[in-house]
Amino acid sequence: GRVGLLHLLVLIFGLVTTWVFVRRYINFNMKTILLGEWTSHSVKTKCGLSKSCPDNFFAFKITSGAANVVGPSVCFEGQMIMSPVKNNVGRGLNIALVNGTTGKVMTQKYFDMYSGDANLLVKFLKEIPEGTLVLVASYDDPGTKMNDEIRNLFSNLGSTYAKQLGFRDSWVFLGARDLNSKSPFEEFLKNNPDVNKYDGWPELLELEGCVPQKVY
Ligand SMILES: *[C@@H]1O[C@H](CO)[C@@H](O)[C@H](O)[C@H]1NC(C)=O
Repeated sequence: GRVGLLHLLVLIFGLVTTWVFVRRYINFNMKTILLGEWTSHSVKTKCGLSKSCPDNFFAFKITSGAANVVGPSVCFEGQMIMSPVKNNVGRGLNIALVNGTTGKVMTQKYFDMYSGDANLLVKFLKEIPEGTLVLVASYDDPGTKMNDEIRNLFSNLGSTYAKQLGFRDSWVFLGARDLNSKSPFEEFLKNNPDVNKYDGWPELLELEGCVPQKVY
């Protein structure tokens, strides 16, 4: 009688509500998935560059360390070569070498410029072969152990600011072994307590760009 009818109504109401809910949920998820795919496809560039590089150019992004807290990173052609996550960065100068023709990573290393042995860096820079791209990021202090020989070696790679690099300056740079001019890829911030972003350090620097592939 009445109880049976009421049961039936409750059951129908329950089914309809569930159906509406499930439909909405599926619909919502489809939209999320489609939208998500579309968005990531349209904005994804190598190394997260603001726009992608033309053919025959390599994408790169170099970020200096933030004070003595967050380590630097070096990305090349979509490959993160050095970063705090990779646990291969350190105080001083972080340097990656890449084959300028193939874009293949040759080596990466950091040199403690606060209390390390400057001769290790001299040796490393002198042994860089022709046709090599050199990517550099400072972290904490790139200046204490800096000397004229190292400044000259960096200047020969196309650096403008190596000449004045000092205690706790921020520096990011991409140069090349056989560059006959100054590199357009360089940023520098002097450590100046009056204008520093952090107490003892200037702001971190970020350098991104497209470097032409070297063809022989
Ligand atoms: C870069 O790679 C090419 C092709 O493998 C090779 O011939 C050249 O010697 C390499 N250059 C450097 C600097 O390693």
